[in-house]
Amino acid sequence: MNRIATIVWLLQLLQKAEGQVFPGGCSFDEHYSNCGYSVALGTNGFTWEQINTWEKPTMDPAVPTGSFMMVNSSGRASGQKAHLLLPTLKENDTHCIDFHYYLSSRDRSSPGSLNVYVKVNGGPQGNPIWNVSGIVTEGWVKAELAISTFWPHFYQVIFESVSLKGHPGYIAVDEVRVLAHPCRKAPHFLRLQNVEVNVGQNATFQCIAGGKWSQHDKLWLQQWNGRDTALMVTRVVNHRRFSATVSVADTSQRSISKYRCVIRSDGGSGVSNYAELIVK
Ligand SMILES: *[C@@H]1O[C@H](CO)[C@@H](O)[C@H](O)[C@H]1NC(C)=O
Ligand SMILES: *[C@@H]1O[C@H](CO)[C@@H](O)[C@H](O)[C@H]1NC(C)=O
Ligand SMILES: *[C@@H]1O[C@H](CO)[C@@H](O)[C@H](O)[C@H]1NC(C)=O
Ligand SMILES: *[C@@H]1O[C@H](CO)[C@@H](O)[C@H](O)[C@H]1NC(C)=O
Repeated sequence: MNRIATIVWLLQLLQKAEGQVFPGGCSFDEHYSNCGYSVALGTNGFTWEQINTWEKPTMDPAVPTGSFMMVNSSGRASGQKAHLLLPTLKENDTHCIDFHYYLSSRDRSSPGSLNVYVKVNGGPQGNPIWNVSGIVTEGWVKAELAISTFWPHFYQVIFESVSLKGHPGYIAVDEVRVLAHPCRKAPHFLRLQNVEVNVGQNATFQCIAGGKWSQHDKLWLQQWNGRDTALMVTRVVNHRRFSATVSVADTSQRSISKYRCVIRSDGGSGVSNYAELIVK
């Protein structure tokens, strides 16, 4: 290649790397079902609705402007849940999902909580890998999800709103993107390896992630059935990588399960693949 051709080729490559988005995102400018999204009706009709304030203005100043998904938690009992489901994703390469969220109310009391689940291979929903609660946001806030589950395994991201009694307000989500590059803030886990032990031994998983480790980050091990085990020892390998170990003590046949590492950091969450604990 001559020089110009090389530069053009490099620019194209850069454009690809910067701008490429995979299917699975949604800007909610058109109907969410066109993005392959669906909503599950919660108790008493508590549900996510698509809002477009350009087409249908609202009188309530607590409702943001634009087109997005929202639940109205006003007049709801505590603990009602509404689900917004993304299509199933099967990515081959490192990627990042980011989204914007908004929690508001007229009296600035928290409208409830927003949880994110990552369900793998059609398995149980388990526990959230990311959540916010007890706050209202100043406008839209961006969060990232670094999900290290790759083809042939598949996963589904689920947004869940949970109402809080006597706290009228709104929980909204917008601009979900599946980006063809790593997250900027949320750490990505490297492949979590299976662990094999004899009955009665301690099994040790090693969670290794790329990215910066901050003292405020929360790291834990999540079992296939959703049970969470708080971690653990954190060892910074260098400024771009850190590792943490967690032991499942005194293993028995009942410990046999799949486990994954989860990290909640300032900018979002990272979650590893599931690895098997084999007890012989
Ligand atoms: C939210 O629900 C409350 C109570 O049902 C209602 O008064 C309010 O108008 C709703 N807000 C919007 C934007 O629809
Ligand atoms: C991942 O790779 C498999 C096998 O090569 C292919 O069938 C699939 O379409 C790829 N998926 C994506 C999202 O590129
Ligand atoms: C997320 O949920 C966990 C478990 O329910 C809770 O302990 C934690 O405080 C929540 N985090 C935020 C930021 O609300
Ligand atoms: C296994 O873990 C338990 C509890 O963390 C600890 O007390 C024990 O010393 C460990 N055993 C071995 C062999 O490392």
